[in-house]
Amino acid sequence: MNKRSIAAPIVLVATVLFSLVPLVREGVELPVAEHHLLHAVMLAGAALAGILFVGSPVRGRPGSPAWLLAAMLAPLPAMLLMWPSDYAYLETHAFGHVVEHLGLVGLGFVTGYAGQRYANGIGWAAGLSVVAMAALAAGGYGVGPGGAANVPPAPQAAVPGTTAAAFGEPHVANGAKLFGQNCAVCHGVAGAGGEGPSLRGESARKSLVLAEHWIANPAPPMPKLYPGTLSAQDVADVAGYVETLK
Ligand code: HEC
Repeated sequence: MNKRSIAAPIVLVATVLFSLVPLVREGVELPVAEHHLLHAVMLAGAALAGILFVGSPVRGRPGSPAWLLAAMLAPLPAMLLMWPSDYAYLETHAFGHVVEHLGLVGLGFVTGYAGQRYANGIGWAAGLSVVAMAALAAGGYGVGPGGAANVPPAPQAAVPGTTAAAFGEPHVANGAKLFGQNCAVCHGVAGAGGEGPSLRGESARKSLVLAEHWIANPAPPMPKLYPGTLSAQDVADVAGYVETLK
């Protein structure tokens, strides 16, 4: 056993353990930029493990072109896995989040391993480029909204346990109107239920703040209407109305 063959599995196991963190830190929401940087760390660890598993192939003829193709293609789904529209769902479901991370680890590994199988050094080049893409995403380039300007501030402030101030005082009458326009199609007239669940007695399940938080950051298939269709005040109003449903 040389040093490399010992290091390869250690790096891989450490990377996989790191990717499982959402399971123990359920509900912790990180800023998007930080999130991308952690993804970059996972990709780096996985690619490094892949490279270490191969080591330095014998000089001379390169490996099969299929390895080169795999090293070039694996980063594409990795980037898609970091697509920002996934955050709302994956971030609120620890399990989905971990599946996403394991996907990144697998693809990072393939990038390093296949590149290195093709020719010595290619694994490093391909691995560095996929890590660089993730790091750039943290800066707001490419796939991910990294800049603070892209993070809607209100839902952050309205995490469970804090006051509802971020969304304003609810005006229930306006909320009823908004509910008819945006929500009744799924939740039924007066929240009796339909494609979406009944919202009767919702106040027993979710406090006003939790309802606001959910409406601002729902999980699919419920559409995210804030910010955009709904303003922060609208979220407060419609949540206030939902709380009145009996
Ligand atoms: C396209 C259909 C659809 C629309 C439109 C929609 N919802 Fe939903 N809503 C759902 C579904 C489906 C769920 C259940 C999702 C889940 O539990 O993962 C849900 C869940 C909820 C919940 C949480 C229920 C609970 O206690 O688990 C609330 C509150 C809610 N919706 C309010 C609203 C409000 C307010 C609007 C309008 C601004 C709205 N919804 C628009 C489909 C929809």
